[in-house]
Amino acid sequence: SVFENPKAASLHVAGRIAAIIRKKQDAAEHAVLGLATGATPVAVYAELVRLHKEEGLSFKNVITFNLDEYYPMGPDAAQSYVSFMNDNLFDHIDIDKNNVHIPDGTLKLEEIPAFCLAYEKKIGDLGGLDIQILGIGRTGHIGFNEPGSAPNSGTRLVTLDDLTRRDAARDFGGKSFVPTKAITMGIGTIFKAKEIVLMAWNRKKASIIKKAVEGEISSEVPATYLQLSDNVEFILDKDAASLL
Ligand code: GLP
Repeated sequence: SVFENPKAASLHVAGRIAAIIRKKQDAAEHAVLGLATGATPVAVYAELVRLHKEEGLSFKNVITFNLDEYYPMGPDAAQSYVSFMNDNLFDHIDIDKNNVHIPDGTLKLEEIPAFCLAYEKKIGDLGGLDIQILGIGRTGHIGFNEPGSAPNSGTRLVTLDDLTRRDAARDFGGKSFVPTKAITMGIGTIFKAKEIVLMAWNRKKASIIKKAVEGEISSEVPATYLQLSDNVEFILDKDAASLL
C-alpha cells in the first residue's frame, strides 16, 4: 500500500500491531512481535507509546524479538539497538523487560552459534512471530541480511556491507567506528513470521524499493526474496513508491 506520507503509513502499521496485541489479550495469549530499528519505524513506536499513554494499550502480554544488533556492541552504548529500543519504545510502555529479546552484541565469538540457535528456538517455542516489521537498507538488506544471504538463512553473525557502514557512519561519528559485523535474524527466520510488513519512506529508498518489488529475485538484493511470500505487505510513502 502507498500512503500520502510517512506519518499516515506509520499510524497504519502501529494500528495493525495494536490490533494484534488486543486480539491476543482477549484470548489471554501472548503477542509475539518482531521489531526493527533504524529511522524508518521511529514514528510507529511513537504511536504505540501514544496508544499506551492515552488509550490504555497494555504491553503486558507482549514478547518481542529484535531483528539484529551490531557486533561487537555493548548494550549501554548510544548506538546499540538496545539503547535505540529503550529510548524509542521499551522505556515508555509497560512491557516486562524479561519479554524483550535483542541479539547480544557482547558474546564471545565462540558463544554466538549457540546463542543464535537458542534465539530461533525461543521464537519457535512461542509459536512464531505474529508480525515482523522491517525497514530496508540501501543494499537491499532486511535485518542485516546483506547481499549474498541465503533464503533459508537463520540467525547468525554476518559481515556488514560497505554501503551499510557508510550509511551508519553518521551515528558513529565516522565509518571507521561502525562495527564490521552484526548478529541478525536470517531471511528464513523472517519468512516464518505470520505477517511481514516492510516499510520504506523517502526518495532515497525509491530505487531499492523498485528493485525489491519488481526486480529479479536474487541473493544480490535480499529483499527480493519477499516476493516469494504471500504474507508480505510493502507499506510505502509516495516518495519511496515513486519509481514503481
Ligand atoms: C539498519 C537496520 C535495518 C534497517 C536499515 C535501514 O541497517 N539493521 O534493520 O532497515 O538500517 O535504516 P533506516 O530505517 O534508518 O533507513
